[in-house]
Amino acid sequence: MAHHVYCTKEAVKKYNRSHGLVKNGGSWVNKAKVFFNGVAMELNKQLGEEVSVLDIGVGHGGWFFIPLIISLRNSCEKRLKAAVGIDNSKLMIQDLINNIGNHKLNYKEINLEDLFKDTLPTDISVINADIEQFVYEWDPQKNPYKFDVVILMGFLHHTINWRQTLSVIVNSFLCPDSFVVIAERNFDSSFLDGNFYRDIDKNTPSTPWRNLWLNYYKERGREGFPWVPELRISDYDPVLCSLLEMNFVIKMKSEKTWFIEYKKAEISQWLEEPVFSNFYRSLNKTIIDKLKKTVSIPDNISVCEGWRIYILKRSFK
Ligand SMILES: C[S@@+](CC[C@H](N)C(=O)[O-])C[C@H]1O[C@@H](n2cnc3c(N)ncnc32)[C@H](O)[C@@H]1O
Repeated sequence: MAHHVYCTKEAVKKYNRSHGLVKNGGSWVNKAKVFFNGVAMELNKQLGEEVSVLDIGVGHGGWFFIPLIISLRNSCEKRLKAAVGIDNSKLMIQDLINNIGNHKLNYKEINLEDLFKDTLPTDISVINADIEQFVYEWDPQKNPYKFDVVILMGFLHHTINWRQTLSVIVNSFLCPDSFVVIAERNFDSSFLDGNFYRDIDKNTPSTPWRNLWLNYYKERGREGFPWVPELRISDYDPVLCSLLEMNFVIKMKSEKTWFIEYKKAEISQWLEEPVFSNFYRSLNKTIIDKLKKTVSIPDNISVCEGWRIYILKRSFK
């Protein structure tokens, strides 16, 4: 199974803090929850009488998977045919299970092979598996269950071959008129850039946050980065373009930002720990020590960041 940052305790702890699963996540966490909840309810309005949902790279499910399930159940008890969440991190799956429990919902643990049955459990199903491995071993003769909604939020940029993963998912697991949900970080967070190096656009207005990362990348240099990745959490354009080429149309685009106050200790951790390995990946100790000395981190930084979310629908017109 592919090992990535979310298979480590430290990363999951941080993720949960920044994604509101633990208390004292900050006032912006509530704003984010309200935003995602609102988008889930809007999607609900566009869906039919019976709905099946697949969330790949579901994480703790609190941002979109669980709000959508609750919204569907609230509109009609029997409306949700099946809801499946897949993640290859055991830690994330455990958080998902706890989160489902917090909402007093029922679930079953199933296997990837169960996706080839004609019907799925009517409860929520949870699968701990590496979807990319599955995609590589894909047998086009097999006929999997088809879903009405597929959620791919904050997941595809973790994959080694996102195009192949997306194409197997779209061509095999989706109904002809299915919906796909994708999301990307927006505004200043593109300078933090969740997982990978990003060239910073030097024409954008100067803020303490931008200046910090401009300075960081100047000091860091490009050593150890074999390529600039095509897909980044703050730039899902390539995914959007691929979906448009595969006969999807944008049904809804929603975005929201909020201010987050980052403390020096937190930013220092990004530079030092291999947690969100982007800042740290492949650096040797000499470079890390040099960066620690040369990059000056302010005590507090207020950052404007948020999410942009797209809901697309497949259309064969
Ligand atoms: C940034 S988190 C996003 C979680 C959730 N979708 C959200 O938006 O809050 C990415 C998730 O994708 C999962 N993931 C990464 N690669 C995966 C793979 N090959 N198969 C299944 N899950 C994967 C990680 O374990 C992690 O939980």
